[in-house]
Amino acid sequence: MIRLPAGYRLVFYDTVGSTSEAARELARGGAVGSVVWALQQTAGRGRRGRTWLSPPGNLYVSFVLQPDISAARAAQLGFVAALAVGDTLAGVIAAGPPPAFKWPNDVMVGDCKIAGILVEAEAGEDGSLSTLVVGIGINLASAPAASATPATSVAALGRPAPTPDIMLEALAAHFDIWLRRWRSAGFAPVRSAWRSRAYALGRPIRVRLDPAELRGRFRDIDAEGGLLLETADGVRHISAGDVFPALR
Ligand code: BTN
Repeated sequence: MIRLPAGYRLVFYDTVGSTSEAARELARGGAVGSVVWALQQTAGRGRRGRTWLSPPGNLYVSFVLQPDISAARAAQLGFVAALAVGDTLAGVIAAGPPPAFKWPNDVMVGDCKIAGILVEAEAGEDGSLSTLVVGIGINLASAPAASATPATSVAALGRPAPTPDIMLEALAAHFDIWLRRWRSAGFAPVRSAWRSRAYALGRPIRVRLDPAELRGRFRDIDAEGGLLLETADGVRHISAGDVFPALR
């Protein structure tokens, strides 16, 4: 039996198209607190319309949250989820480089991505959010061979891969802790924890905006979670994009 924090309810699938799609349907029916978990996905999706390959052995889960926040604040949930993933993985990959956070929502070990996060919200006619779903994929047993950012998994790091159910329990507990902290104290403690383990902070990076690409130094994230890039033309504020090390 999976133990979840109080207020959460498990919705389990052996196979589903996308846990985030299933969660969105539940969210439309008001099922806040649902935790949709599947052993595999046939139409897993990533950020910016990408596919998230989802064979058995990895963790695929989506949380249905109360949509009582602005769209701008909803984006901060990607950082909240990244911290929860980082804390969960830290207990599993004790030795070696600790998990780091690549802006906006990736979790890295070294230069390889080990987990991805997708925050999706829908808004009603008055602009207020009507659904809010945070989807998380963590590579436990395997990682895709071909992707723009090299990928890894717990197993590929030479650690025994925990089963998805064990990982889900730990992740849900950490997510609940960070979510409560964010709701009570705002983005400041989240920002501070995220910055302390930020990938490439202070280093030269490329930011792909599709189709444009900017180069500069990753100066910081701002008080809302936007990326501040120091370019030859001054500091640019970026709210969406993909970060790569400058030299790749
Ligand atoms: C990314 O890095 O592009 C985000 C990947 C998010 C993948 C997870 S797996 C569980 C949930 N269901 C989906 O279809 N996507 C998210």
